[in-house]
Amino acid sequence: MRTPVVAGNWKMNGTKATVATLLQGLKHGLQPGRANVLVCAPFPYLSQVADELSGTAIQWGAQNVSEHPSGAYTGEVSVGMLEDFGCSHVILGHSERRALYGEQDDVIAEKFCAVQAAGLTPILCVGETLEQREAGATMSVVEQQLMAVVNRAGITAMTKAVLAYEPVWAIGTGKTASPEQAQEVHQALRARLAREDGAVADSLSILYGGSVKASNAAELFACPDIDGGLIGGASLDAEEFIAICQAAG
Ligand code: PGA
Repeated sequence: MRTPVVAGNWKMNGTKATVATLLQGLKHGLQPGRANVLVCAPFPYLSQVADELSGTAIQWGAQNVSEHPSGAYTGEVSVGMLEDFGCSHVILGHSERRALYGEQDDVIAEKFCAVQAAGLTPILCVGETLEQREAGATMSVVEQQLMAVVNRAGITAMTKAVLAYEPVWAIGTGKTASPEQAQEVHQALRARLAREDGAVADSLSILYGGSVKASNAAELFACPDIDGGLIGGASLDAEEFIAICQAAG
């Protein structure tokens, strides 16, 4: 039985004041459920998030990390620093990082290994653009993104990871993939991993991301291979995010 996971991706949003309000709302409003709930905050707010969420059932993480352990990498943040602030998870390979900051599969694979070596859990994002979907390339694109990491880290590394399928055309657009479209890709990703190791494929939580809201979460999470969600815009509103968490169980 896979544990559902709901992860908020705040992206580059927030102030100390809005973060405080959001965290209070989550702390007081979230009823204990089956799902693992976490929020991925911008780096400057990790200390505030750690202070507020320590001792609660809500975990926290980051949205990116350096592949290097320390040194002359101006502007970068290491896994050790994230560990220092109590992070449990790190989002890796988000499509915005791939598209806007040129992150390639090989760097993402290095980051994945660095995160796992420190005992944190990577949330690896894969997803196709609209152009790729229309060209019939969805499966080959997401499989390549996934296998670049599996080939570097090894299949058993996936027992300590979370995978997120995020179609680029659904992110921040209000255009959610239909449950059938999402389930088809989730099932294919799991089947691809099952060719390497059935038990690993079976135990891996695969999240859907892309315009998930309280109003569409339940039908997405009801799909057999969808084990929760990676939530952008809707994670900035406590009530909305809590409703999504509750839809996950
Ligand atoms: P969205 O973002 O929920 O705002 O579409 C999801 C994501 O990018 O992780």
